Amino acid sequence: MEGGLWNKELLILKFVLLAVAVVKTVHGKGTYVGFYSGTCPRAESIVRSTVESYVRSDPTLAAGILRMHFHDCFVRGCDGSVLIAGSDTERSAGPNRNLRGYEVIDAAKAKLEAVCPGVVSCADILALAARDSVVLSGGLSWQVPTGRRDGRVSIGTEAFTLPGPNDTVAVQNKKFSDKGLNTQDLVILAGGHTIGTAACQSFSDRLYSPNGTDPSIDPSFVPFLRQICPQNQPTKRVALDTGSQFRFDTSYFANLKRRHGILRSDQVLWTDASTRPFVIKYLATGLFNQEFAKSMIKMGNIGVKTDADGEIRTKCSAVN
Ligand code: HEM
Repeated sequence: MEGGLWNKELLILKFVLLAVAVVKTVHGKGTYVGFYSGTCPRAESIVRSTVESYVRSDPTLAAGILRMHFHDCFVRGCDGSVLIAGSDTERSAGPNRNLRGYEVIDAAKAKLEAVCPGVVSCADILALAARDSVVLSGGLSWQVPTGRRDGRVSIGTEAFTLPGPNDTVAVQNKKFSDKGLNTQDLVILAGGHTIGTAACQSFSDRLYSPNGTDPSIDPSFVPFLRQICPQNQPTKRVALDTGSQFRFDTSYFANLKRRHGILRSDQVLWTDASTRPFVIKYLATGLFNQEFAKSMIKMGNIGVKTDADGEIRTKCSAVN
C-alpha cells in the first residue's frame, strides 16, 4: 500500500517536472514567459515605467526602440549585440547609424542593477521595451518570453546583412527566411513602419533619380515628399506612415495600397504578387495587431543565447 502511494507520488512529480519543461521550452531555445518572476519580480514593471517616462517626453523614441530590437535580432540573434559601443561594433556601422533609444535601455538597466544585480539581460530589456513601445503607441500587448543572455561579440560589418530600403521582395524574403521567418512574418513585421520616420537619404533617389521619379509612387504624392525632402537635405526625416506616425494601426498598409509607401522596400510589398495578399488581409480584417504580436515573439526568439553561450551584462553598452 505504502509502496503504491510512493509510486503514485513519484509519477505525479515526474508529470509536474515534464509539464514545467514543456512550458519552459515551448517558446524556443529556453525563453519563457515569466523568466524573472522568481529572481527579479519587478523586472518587467521597471522596464515598462522607464520606457513610459522616456516616451512621454519624446514620443519618437517608441519607434527607435522597436527598430533597435529588430536590428538586434537579425544580427547574431537577439543578444543585445547592437547595444555594445565601440568603433567596429554593429552599433557604429552604417545601417545602425540612425538607431535611437540607447539611453532608455541604459536607464532601465541601471535601475534593474540596483534592485537585482546581475540578473536581467540587456537583450531581454530590449525585447520588453520593444513590446512596451508598441503598447504605448496604441498597439495590443503580448507576453514576452524572456531568458535571453547577452552576447559578447559585436562586429560592425555584420550589420550590412540587415534588410535595406532598396531590397526587392525576393531579397527581403531571403533575409527573413534565413532567420526562420516566412512571407507573412515579413509583411506583418514591416508593418512596424506604422510608427516612426525615415531619413530623406533612405529614399530620396525615388524622387530625384536622373531617370525620373519612381513610377511606383502616386504622382500626386510626389510634391509633398519633395517639399519635406528637398535635394541635398539627406538628414531631414519623414513619417513612414503618412498621417499616423505615432499610432500603431493599419494605415501603413492603406498607404501602400494608395502608393504612398515611403521606402522602396515598403512599396514593393504592394506591387509584388506574393506579398500583396497579406497587405490586403491586414486591411480587410482586424488581425494586424494580434498577428504582429505572434511574429514579434518569433522574431524575438532568433538565435537566443542561453546558459554559458552568453552573460548578463552589467552595462548594456559594454561586455563584462
Ligand atoms: C522588412 C525589411 C525592413 C527594411 C528594409 C527596413 C528599413 C528601414 C529603414 C531604411 C528605415 C529608416 C531608417 C532611417 O532612415 O533612419 C526604417 C525605420 C524603421 N523601421 Fe524598418 N525596415 C524593415 C523591417 C522592420 C521591422 C521588422 C521592424 C520592427 C518590427 C522595423 C521597424 C522600424 C521602425 C519603427 C522604424 C522607424 C525608426 C525611427 O523612427 O527612428 N523595420 N526601417
